[in-house]
Amino acid sequence: MIEVRDLVVKYKNNKIFERALGPIDLTLDPGEIIAIIGPSGCGKSTFIKALAGITPYEGSLLMKGESFNYQKQRIGYIPQGYGLLPWKTVYENCTLPFRIKKMKLTEERKAHLEEVLETLELKQLTKRYPSALSGGQRQRVALARAFAFSPELLLMDEPFSALDAIMKEEAAEIFLKVWRVHHCTTLIVTHSIEEALYMGNKILVMYQNGTVNAIWENPLFADAHFREREEFKVLYHQIKEQIKRGRS
Ligand SMILES: Nc1ncnc2c1ncn2[C@@H]1O[C@H](COP(=O)(O)OP(=O)(O)O)[C@@H](O)[C@H]1O
Ligand SMILES: [Mg+2]
Repeated sequence: MIEVRDLVVKYKNNKIFERALGPIDLTLDPGEIIAIIGPSGCGKSTFIKALAGITPYEGSLLMKGESFNYQKQRIGYIPQGYGLLPWKTVYENCTLPFRIKKMKLTEERKAHLEEVLETLELKQLTKRYPSALSGGQRQRVALARAFAFSPELLLMDEPFSALDAIMKEEAAEIFLKVWRVHHCTTLIVTHSIEEALYMGNKILVMYQNGTVNAIWENPLFADAHFREREEFKVLYHQIKEQIKRGRS
């Protein structure tokens, strides 16, 4: 479905290009959620930004065998901090991707948006501006906007990190609720091992140098009681050690 081949990102610092990411090779199956975790500064955001088309990269990114095309394909991106426009209402924020992509807001798309707003409990808030929303509500608007245009690939950079502990869990649950219906292929960056164990059907651990350290199948995926499972402690510890070993 999604193929990442020899992906490298270089940044120019003091007139010299330095490699911040890669080379990365990765294949994503349709509908899967990969949680990306790794030491601070290892290139997680860079990876997401390259896939989102907002940072130049070398290598190739393919969707169903074709090069990424941000006008044609539906690639959703939720940046750190959600990226909501403060001068637009909730509803206008949610319809923004259609306008950017010059996609008509058909009756069918409107109905789909209504359904997403309903699921995310945002129906009463559509006329509000982001400044009049709580952190959790803003987060849900960002999810609604992403799901509203039925992305084939959804990219999220630490989407829950600004929320308190309880809201984080609720937001993760809500995300999975929508994902169960729409099943879009998702990459989610997190710095929380627990979040990775709940939300990723696979967990990708990165090395400090911006390459892939390990990919794990996650037997605890989407299990509301994952912390009580026997594997939890073992996996938590293994991933933590893997991250530590990858720091250098
Ligand atoms: N715009 C930029 N220009 C130069 N260097 C950058 C830029 N953005 C990130 N970097 C560097 O690239 C590396 C990876 O950054 P980032 O992807 O933000 O890491 P992470 O999200 O894993 O914490 C870091 O060393 C960071 O300093
Ligand atoms: Mg980051």
